[in-house]
Amino acid sequence: MSSEKWCIMASNIVLIGFMGSGKSTIAGELAGLLDTFALDTDSIIQNSTNLKISEIFAKYGEKAFRAHESHLIHWLSLNVSNAIIATGGGMPIFNDVRPMGKIVYLCIGFEEITKRLTPKERAKRPLFGDKAKALELFHTRESIYKKTADIIINASKSPQEVCDEILHSFKPQIR
Ligand code: S3P
Repeated sequence: MSSEKWCIMASNIVLIGFMGSGKSTIAGELAGLLDTFALDTDSIIQNSTNLKISEIFAKYGEKAFRAHESHLIHWLSLNVSNAIIATGGGMPIFNDVRPMGKIVYLCIGFEEITKRLTPKERAKRPLFGDKAKALELFHTRESIYKKTADIIINASKSPQEVCDEILHSFKPQIR
């Protein structure tokens, strides 16, 4: 990757993928390369509710969390451009994320994900409590991620390689 700064057009780049696929890390790196900012939908929901994701699930249930996600998609679509958006793993399963921008699916195997997520990281994620259930979820979601994506990236590589691949896939649309 050359050290020159890239410059994206007005559309956001939206990262989707299963828990632990590296969406937040890649969003931060890409934002640096593109001289823009990274937004994380889970962090925005946590900040706006003043609750952790696990607390929202425990106190109000998953349905309430999905309603926050839906509201946020609408808001981001209307108000944000030229940013990198890291989504929660279930966001494209329950809502259409495409109005937010160009969709990049960070594709990675389940075993690799379990190696990456520390017990502390798993504890933050209410839907990763039970490994067998998480695997089932992984299988039901894969085809939805693929159908939603404009581009699919092999996310088991290093963050630099993943960013490189994303930027080159978008090159015709990047000035
Ligand atoms: C979820 C993924 C989490 C978070 C919530 C639900 C899911 O985000 O939004 O716990 O349904 O896959 P990450 O993908 O950042 O872990």
